[in-house]
Amino acid sequence: IAIHEQLVKEIMQLKQQRNAIILSHVYQPPEIQEVADLVGDSLELSRRAAATDAGVIVFCGVHFMAESAAVLSPEKIVLLPEANAGCPMADMVTAEALRAKKNNLPGAQVVCYVNTSAEVKAECDIACTSANAVQVVTSLPTDRPIIFVPDKNLGRYVARQSGRTMNIWEGCCPIHDQLSADDVLKVKSEHPKALVLVHPECRPEVVELADHVASTTGMLRFARESQNKEFIVATEKGILHQLNKQCPGKSFYPASDKLVCRDMKSITLEMVLHSLQTLEPRVTVTAVVRERALKCLEKMLAVQ
Ligand code: 13P
Ligand code: SF4
Repeated sequence: IAIHEQLVKEIMQLKQQRNAIILSHVYQPPEIQEVADLVGDSLELSRRAAATDAGVIVFCGVHFMAESAAVLSPEKIVLLPEANAGCPMADMVTAEALRAKKNNLPGAQVVCYVNTSAEVKAECDIACTSANAVQVVTSLPTDRPIIFVPDKNLGRYVARQSGRTMNIWEGCCPIHDQLSADDVLKVKSEHPKALVLVHPECRPEVVELADHVASTTGMLRFARESQNKEFIVATEKGILHQLNKQCPGKSFYPASDKLVCRDMKSITLEMVLHSLQTLEPRVTVTAVVRERALKCLEKMLAVQ
C-alpha cells in the first residue's frame, strides 16, 4: 500500500510539472482509472483529447486511441505508457486491404469504427464510436453505397438500427465476440431480476438478449438512472469499477469471466510514472496520414 501511495503521489506531482493530462478508458485497471483526469468511452476521450490545453496527453488505453489523440492534437506530446498495447480488432483491417475493397465498390462512402489505425482512417470518409455509430450512418447521403469497417457485430447492429444497407467488413473484437448467448442465459438464471446491458461489439444473438444496448458510457448512464437494482454486464470487466463506484447499492454481474482485454490491462502505475518521467513512449502520425485522418475524425465530431 505504501508503494502504491508513493507512486500515485509521484504521478500527481509530475503530472502538474509536465502540464500533463491523464486520459483513461473505462476498461483500464481500477488503479489507472483512479489517477486519471477523465475516465470515459472512446467518444468522450476523443473529444477531450481535441479540447485539452495540456501540453502532454498520457493515454491509458490502446494504440489507436493514442493515435487519434495525436491526429486531433498534433502540437501535443501523446504518450502511450505501454507501447505494445494494441487492439486486435483494429489490426483486422489494413489500409491496403481497404483500398482494394474501395476499388471493387467505386463511389462508396467508408465509415470506420474508431477502433482502426490512423492509416485506415485516412482512407475513410467518417469515423464513429459505439456511442454515435447509428447517428453517423444515418447522417450519410442515401445515393452511395456504404462500406463499414472493421467490426461485423457493430456493423450489423447499426445496419438494423438505421435501416441502411451496408457492406460490412468481417472483423470483430475477440473479447466481445467470444461471449455466447448461453453465457448470458446462465448468469440470467442465477440473477433473474437483473437487467442485461450489452455492448454492440457482441454477437447478434447476445444483442438479442439485451434490455439495453449501449456504449460503455451509455451503460453507466442507464445503470445510474434505472430503478432496477441488479444488472448483468456484457462488456469488458474493467467497466465494473465505474459501475460500482457510480451506483452505490446496486449489483453488477459480469456476463462472463472471460470478458477481459489483455491489451487494456497491460498498463501499470509504474509505466504511467515512467512515461511522465521520460516523455516516452510517444505516439506520432506522419503529416500526410494525419491530414486525411483528421478530416475523418472531425467529420465524426461534428455529428450530434
Ligand atoms: P466504447 O468505450 O466506445 O464503448 O468502446 C469499446 C471498446 O471496445 C474500446 O476498445
Ligand atoms: Fe480492441 Fe476489444 Fe480490446 Fe476494445 S476490448 S481494445 S475492441 S480488443
